[in-house]
Amino acid sequence: MDITRRNFLKLAGTAGLALSIGHVDAATNEKFLIAYFSRTGEEYNVGTITKGNTAIVAEIIAQQVNGTLFEIRGEKNYPASYEECKTIASREKATKARPPFVGGVENFEQYTTIFIGYPIWYGDAPQIVYTFLESYDFGGKKIIPFCTHGGSGLSGTEQRITLACPNAKLLKGFAVVGRVAQNDRVQTESIVAENLNRLGLID
Ligand SMILES: Cc1cc2nc3c(=O)[nH]c(=O)nc-3n(C[C@H](O)[C@H](O)[C@H](O)COP(=O)(O)O)c2cc1C
Repeated sequence: MDITRRNFLKLAGTAGLALSIGHVDAATNEKFLIAYFSRTGEEYNVGTITKGNTAIVAEIIAQQVNGTLFEIRGEKNYPASYEECKTIASREKATKARPPFVGGVENFEQYTTIFIGYPIWYGDAPQIVYTFLESYDFGGKKIIPFCTHGGSGLSGTEQRITLACPNAKLLKGFAVVGRVAQNDRVQTESIVAENLNRLGLID
């Protein structure tokens, strides 16, 4: 019988074998990178947090697609104070700043699909996300944007990411309300799973 690898993995899963089952990465050799920026400290609608809303979503995606996480972390940390962070963020946006980030992605070229995650800041992705997007060659790669937000949704960031990475193939992204990501693990996992399923990345 001709069993495709994907079906084999499903069968193996049904049989209870200890395999990473059902993920397209196993079936198609896709490699997933989940690059995200996220902030801790005082945050809109969630009080003071020690893990950022976007970081939580990024980790769930990484688990569900069996991907590699990369945190886009500024050389200078953003302040924990919400008001101070707003001041800096609005200045960076007005000046189209490109704040530097720490470290880099090892063997970036190996990844076929890259999730880009960020909070919405003033109706856009934080400027440091554009620093990241402009630091690598995304030619021929798929990009899936995701954000957390306080009500704005993706806010046109998909179009701006297309402009920053014109040679990438942009897939339709998704948005999670920050308060949900922070406080409701089950709902957040289900939102992520629904979207990964819509994108054909998990069964
Ligand atoms: C500087 C700043 C600006 C923000 N601007 C917006 C906005 O324009 N629209 C929105 O829905 N939420 C806005 N928020 C809320 C964040 O997008 C939201 O709380 C997000 O989940 C934070 O993610 P993080 O914990 O990963 O940093 C803003 C938050 C900050 C700190």
